[in-house]
Amino acid sequence: MSWIREGELNLLEKISANILMAGPMPKHVAFIMDGNRRFARKKNMDRKDGHMQGFNKLAETLRWCKHLNIPEVTVYAFSIENFKRSKEEVDGLMELAKQKFEKLLDERENLEKHSVCIRVLGDLNMLPLDLQEVIAKAVMMTKNHNKCFLNVCFAYTSRYEITNAVREMAWGVEQGLIKASDVSEALLSECLYSSNSPNPDLLIRTSGEVRLSDFLLWQTSHSCLVFQSVLWPEYSFWNLCEAIIQYQLNHKSIQKARELHREEQALQQKEADCACVAEHLQHQGNGKPADAQRRQEALQRYTAAREARVEDFLQALKHKRDSFFTNLCSETV
Ligand code: FPP
Ligand code: MG
Repeated sequence: MSWIREGELNLLEKISANILMAGPMPKHVAFIMDGNRRFARKKNMDRKDGHMQGFNKLAETLRWCKHLNIPEVTVYAFSIENFKRSKEEVDGLMELAKQKFEKLLDERENLEKHSVCIRVLGDLNMLPLDLQEVIAKAVMMTKNHNKCFLNVCFAYTSRYEITNAVREMAWGVEQGLIKASDVSEALLSECLYSSNSPNPDLLIRTSGEVRLSDFLLWQTSHSCLVFQSVLWPEYSFWNLCEAIIQYQLNHKSIQKARELHREEQALQQKEADCACVAEHLQHQGNGKPADAQRRQEALQRYTAAREARVEDFLQALKHKRDSFFTNLCSETV
C-alpha cells in the first residue's frame, strides 16, 4: 500500500470540505495514531496487521488532508517508550517501517509531482542501521520539495527532543559559536528536530486516551487539542471534519494566545539584550552610567552581533544534521 493515494473525495465529502474550507483551516495537523492493537484485538487479527491497518489509515488521512488544503502533517509513529514493547512487536514495527520507507523510494515521481517533503524526527541512532539508511535516502530524496510536508516522529519523545536541543546549545557554547547569554526560548525552538516546521494548529489523539504521551510538548502549548474515542484504524473523514470544527470554534482564542506569546518573547529578548549591554557598558565605563544615545547605539550593535552569532550557530547545526543523513546515504552507494 502506497503513502500517496490518488482519488477524489465523494460528493458529500466534497460539499462538506468546501463548507469547512470557508472557515479558518489548520495549516499543520499532528496525529497521535493510537488504538492499533485494540483494533487488532477487536477484529481478531495479529498485532502486526493492526499496525499495518494503521499505516493504511495514515495514507488515507494524508489524502483527506491534501483535499482539505492542509499542507503539513506530523505523526507519532514510534515513541522511544515503544522500545519497551515485546521484541516481536518492536521488530514487526521496524520491518513495517523499512518496507514502507522502501516503498516511498519507489514513489519518487509521485512525491515530485505533489512536491511532498518527508522528514523523520527522532534519534535515528536508536534504529537498526538498514532502517536508518532507507530513512536517510527518503529524507534526502524529498528534502527540496515544498508543497506538502509529512513529519514522521520515529524513535521520538518530546522530552528527549528538548534535552537534545539543550545539548546542542551547550555544544554551541563549548565550540565558541554562541554565548551562554544567547540561550533563549526562541533559540531552543530552533534546535528542536521540528525547527523547520511551524507549530501544529491542531493535535488529534485517537482511541479515547486523553494524554499527550510525550509528543510535541513544546510545540503544542498554543494548539487546539482534540481527543477522539475512535480507534486509529477506524478513523474517518468525518472524524477529521469534527476535529477541524473544534479548531475553528477555538481559532480566535488560539490566535490571541499566540500573538501574546510572540509579543512576550520579543520583549524578553529585548530585556536580555539590554541587560548584556548594560553590563558591558558598566564594565567599560568603570561603573559610570552611559548616556541614552550611547546605550541605544550599543544595544543595536549588540543585537546585530547576537543575531549573526546565532545564525552562524544554526548553520553549523544544520550542517551537522545534514551530514548525518548524507553519510548514511553515501555508506550504501
Ligand atoms: C499506537 O497504537 C500506534 C503505534 C505505536 C504505531 C503507529 C504506527 C503506525 C500507524 C504505522 C506507521 C508506520 C510508518 C512507517 C509511518 P497502539 O499500538 O498503542 O495500540 P493500543 O493503544 O490499542 O495498544
Ligand atoms: Mg496505545
